[in-house]
Amino acid sequence: MQWILRNDGIMPRRQAHVDIDDRGYQFGDGIYEVIRVYGGMPFLMQPHLERLRRSAREIGMALPWGDATLSARADELIAREALTDGILYIQVTRGVCPRLQVFPPEDVTPQITAYARAMPRPRAETINGLGACLVPDIRWLRCDIKSINLLPNMLARQKANENRCGEALQHREGIVTEGAFSNAFIVTDGIVRTHPADNLILAGITRAHILRLCGGLGISVVEEPFRVDDLRHAEEIFISSTASEVAPVIRLDDQPVADGSPGRVTRRLQAAFADTLPKG
Ligand code: PDD
Repeated sequence: MQWILRNDGIMPRRQAHVDIDDRGYQFGDGIYEVIRVYGGMPFLMQPHLERLRRSAREIGMALPWGDATLSARADELIAREALTDGILYIQVTRGVCPRLQVFPPEDVTPQITAYARAMPRPRAETINGLGACLVPDIRWLRCDIKSINLLPNMLARQKANENRCGEALQHREGIVTEGAFSNAFIVTDGIVRTHPADNLILAGITRAHILRLCGGLGISVVEEPFRVDDLRHAEEIFISSTASEVAPVIRLDDQPVADGSPGRVTRRLQAAFADTLPKG
């Protein structure tokens, strides 16, 4: 059975309903997090909760629960599903209120939805690598907020899918920002390069983890914008996300990346990443 948390209750999926007037449903007025569960344990839970809180703050919404409650409820969902490897999804919308183009009155309370679901680790793409295609970044200028508005991200990923690619790499004014659902990295002269964590990308939790791992491995990192041309001539390209972990990009728009096989730096980071996973 699948269990859904709706505010204070955990209920079977078929009993969980969304009100037509939910601001998330009407406006996409909400935020979310996806957290990996390995061996029954949430991975990097604290930074995910911090980012959820930040997203809420940035859209002027107060989270109804503190971290301890959120964490305890998440553990309950994982236990109910007897989950080993999967994801935890947490979404908070601004509440239920007849369609109003400004913030609702103060007595309207945010709505929390959460669930834990089995999802195998992305073994094929992390081992073999994936193809990526370039697409224009048509998103808004607050990509640092993990908003539930994912229309442009989904359109980009659909384009990738139609081109038999696993991810779309977005560019804005010649600068590579990030993947549709991942952060993007290149390796040039042995140095890892990635877009700075500003308003044009989501500050990925996996991204931050990788940058820490680079530090431990003595791999230099430059957090500066790089161009589409740098991407095309990179020694290595890889993406990171909660869902994709650290995945080599071996093909870009029908051209192989370097010799078309996963690069050495990417492999070192994958190994270091695997060493940090909880063993359940
Ligand atoms: N997406 N950038 C974008 C636009 C994303 O949607 C994601 C993750 C990331 C990587 O962030 P993190 O390492 O914290 O997962 C970067 C999640 C997995 C999703 O929407 O499914």
